[in-house]
Amino acid sequence: MANFFDNLRSTMRGMSPSEVAECYTKWTENGQYDKDMEARNFSAPSILADEVAKCFPVTRDKIKIMDIACGTGLVGEKLAAYGFTDIDGLDPSEGMLNQCKERRHYKKLYQEFCGDNQLHIDNGKYDCLLVSAGIGENHIPCSGLIEMIRIVKTGGLILIATRKEFKEYVGNDIDELDTFISEMESANKVELIERRDFAAYSAERDGILYILKIK
Ligand SMILES: C[S@@+](CC[C@H](N)C(=O)[O-])C[C@H]1O[C@@H](n2cnc3c(N)ncnc32)[C@H](O)[C@@H]1O
Repeated sequence: MANFFDNLRSTMRGMSPSEVAECYTKWTENGQYDKDMEARNFSAPSILADEVAKCFPVTRDKIKIMDIACGTGLVGEKLAAYGFTDIDGLDPSEGMLNQCKERRHYKKLYQEFCGDNQLHIDNGKYDCLLVSAGIGENHIPCSGLIEMIRIVKTGGLILIATRKEFKEYVGNDIDELDTFISEMESANKVELIERRDFAAYSAERDGILYILKIK
């Protein structure tokens, strides 16, 4: 049990995107994904929701939020508890999205991959975009940030929570994400407002939170 999450990730190496999505669908059988996340005290959804609540202290029902790689909707549940009601989600996995629908916190759910493809979403639609545990090998590549930036308004925010041991976990180095964000800063697309470590992302592993402002 202790290594379940790690083992599952390593079995995803070399899989095609659709195989990864199917792998997540299987993981939702009997609510197993949520049970496993609870058992590991997976904190990324709460960390993100706490930050969004600090960033948007008033008229939360008017804030348009996109949850990329929304999975079963753990982030939406935390956001709803803070009074956010205008939340959309995107994920390629049918099984994850089915459970997300059951939570009833999301207005619109897109079954799509985020990556180098163009999303079926208009420019500047959202005030805020979140990614909890979605960036990495066989998941969203760092270059997926380009599309995320496109669909958030000027002055809007992107918040990303990822595991600190990015390299051992998914094969990429966290440096790759840092480098990509620096390139986006140099291109005057975003400003990095905050990059901070936090404890207990999942079980005993630490996480990193990024907050980016769209220029
Ligand atoms: C570890 S789960 C995280 C789910 C949710 N954000 C949470 O915090 O519980 C990773 C999610 O990323 C999704 N995913 C994988 N590849 C993706 C891609 N290219 N674009 C968007 N989502 C992707 C999976 O289907 C899965 O739901």
